[in-house]
Amino acid sequence: MPITTDIQIHAVNVLVIGSGAAGLRAAIAAADAGCEVLVVGKRARTDAHTVLAAGGINAVLGTRDPEDSWQQHFADTFKEGYGLGDPAMIEILVREAPDAVRELADWGAPFSRLPDGRLDQRFFGAHTYRRTCFAGDWTGRAVLETLARRSEGIPMRESFYVTELLHADGECFGAFGFDLDTGVRTAIYADAVVLAAGGHTRLWRRSSSRRDENTGDGMSLALLAGCRLADLELVQFHPSGMTHPEEIAGTLVTEAVRGEGGRLYNALGERFMSGYDPERMELSTRDRVALACYTEITSGRGGPNGGVFLDISHLDKAVILERLPRMYRQFLDHQLLDISTTPMEVAPTAHYSMGGVVVDAETTATDLTGLYAAGEVTAGVHGANRLGGNSLAETIVFGRRAGQAAAAWARDRTTIKRPAAVVAAANERLASVIKRGDEFARPLQRDLRDLMWERCGVVRDEDGLKQALIGIDALTDRAQQVDVSPTAEGHADLAHLLDLQASLLVAKATVLGAIARRETRGCHNRSDYPELDEALAKTLEVSMDDRELRVGSRALPEPAPELARLAALIPDLDPTGRLTE
Ligand code: FUM
Repeated sequence: MPITTDIQIHAVNVLVIGSGAAGLRAAIAAADAGCEVLVVGKRARTDAHTVLAAGGINAVLGTRDPEDSWQQHFADTFKEGYGLGDPAMIEILVREAPDAVRELADWGAPFSRLPDGRLDQRFFGAHTYRRTCFAGDWTGRAVLETLARRSEGIPMRESFYVTELLHADGECFGAFGFDLDTGVRTAIYADAVVLAAGGHTRLWRRSSSRRDENTGDGMSLALLAGCRLADLELVQFHPSGMTHPEEIAGTLVTEAVRGEGGRLYNALGERFMSGYDPERMELSTRDRVALACYTEITSGRGGPNGGVFLDISHLDKAVILERLPRMYRQFLDHQLLDISTTPMEVAPTAHYSMGGVVVDAETTATDLTGLYAAGEVTAGVHGANRLGGNSLAETIVFGRRAGQAAAAWARDRTTIKRPAAVVAAANERLASVIKRGDEFARPLQRDLRDLMWERCGVVRDEDGLKQALIGIDALTDRAQQVDVSPTAEGHADLAHLLDLQASLLVAKATVLGAIARRETRGCHNRSDYPELDEALAKTLEVSMDDRELRVGSRALPEPAPELARLAALIPDLDPTGRLTE
C-alpha cells in the first residue's frame, strides 16, 4: 500500500512523546549525549500536567534533619507502597534524587532556601524526616519551567497527537500522529523513542488532572505496541481535592497544607484523624487519610458540598501567603474564600497512577525494543501507595536515565527497518475513524468517568467491578458511532475520540486488575476482601493477546535484608475498621 501523499516525514535520533518533567529531562539527557531530539506534546511546552504538581520534590539532603539517609527514604517508600514497589527502582530513585534535585537548583529552579542558602525541606505525609524540597506550593511549575529553559534549543512540536507507535519485527522505529490545529499527519522516524505521556487518573469523575490530560493514552500506545502494563488498579486517591464549583471539582488542594499544619474536621467539628491514626494525624499515609475523608463523607459527617474541612486559619496570613500562595489564590478565585480565615471543603480525588508500563529499572527499556518510558506512564516505584513528593523526583531521575539509554541505543544501532506498509496502516486506521455518527465523544468520556468513580473508585467490590466491565463494553460499542468532523477550527473532536478509545481500553485493563486483586492493600480497598493477602504481594500485569486483554502476575524481588529490616521498623497501621462498605 503506497503512503498517501499528505503524510509528512520527520526523522530524528530520539523522539520523546510527552513534554512534562520526565519528557523534558529525557530530551535534555539525549541531547547532551549528542542526539538529534524531537519532543512532541499535546499541550504547550510549559503547560504539561507537571505544572499542577504542587507541594514538593523529595531528596535526602539533610538540610533540616541531618540524620536522614537514602536508606530511610527507601524504607519509607517501600513501606508506604505496601511491599509492591520494585526495590531496584526505589533504590535508584532515592540514591539519585539528591544529585538530580541539586542539578535542578543549579539550573535555576527557584526552590525555597534557608537564610544560609541551603535548600529548605518540609514534611510530607508518612516521611520519617523532612526531605521535601519546594517552591511555595507551585513546585511542579518551578521544575517544568527550569527544564523548559534548559531544553530551549531542543525542537518541540506542540499540539501534536500521537496515534500509534511505529514498530516492525519487535523494534520501535518512531510514532505516527497529527497536528491538532492543521490535521497534518506526520510519521516521525526515530532510532529510539521515549514515552513520557502521563497516567490515567482522568478516567475518574473527580480527578486532579485537567481535561484531556492523563486520559490513559500513553499507556494505551504501549499496550497496543505489545508492552505489558502493571498494577493499573493501584490508583492513588489524594485526600483533598476541591469540591466545587463543578467545573474544577477534584482540583488538587496540596498536601503541603497539612505539611504546614492544616487540620481536618468533619461537619460535627471533630478532628477525625484521631480516630484513624492518632500518632500521625493529618500526616498519616495518603491512602489512610483519603479513606478517612471518604468514610466521614459517606457516613453522613460531610459538609454541604460533600467534603470534609481542611483548616489552616490558625497560621499567620503572611505564612500562608509565603508557603501556600497558589492555594490562597485558588480558593479566592474559584470560591471567593479566604483560607487564612475560613476552612476549605475538600474530598478525595483521583490523583496518581502508580501502575503503568513495565520498564527495566536500570535502563527504563520496555518490552518493545527501542522504546523507553519514564514518569507517571510507568509502573514500579510506588507500589500500592505513593509517598507524596516522590513523583517529581521520579520524573527527573528516570527521565534522565530514559534519555541516556535511548541515546545509547540510537547511537549503537546499525540497521533499522521502517516498512512503508506500517506507516500506511497507521494512516488508514486514523482515516477510518473520521466519519459522521450519532454519538459524541465528550458525553461518552463523561459517562466513563462516572462509571469508574461509582464502580472502581475509592472502595470497590466484585459486583461493582463486573458492572463496570459491562458498562465499558457498552460505551466501547457506542464509541464506534462517534461523529468526527474536522473543521477549519481544528481537529479536537478527533483527539477526543482517540482519547476516549484509549481511556476505554485502559479502563478495562484497570478493572480487570481490580477484579484480580482480591484483597485490600494501600489505595486498593475491596469491601468484599477487606484484608491484605500475602499471596497477592505481587505485581498484576495486563497484556494484549490477539486483541484480548489478559491478566497475569509476577513475583517481586525482595529488598536487601538491611533495607527490609529498616522498613519493618516503621509501625504497621491496624487495618481494622478501615472499610465502611
Ligand atoms: O499534595 C501534593 O502537593 C501532591 C504532591 C504529590 O503528589 O507528590
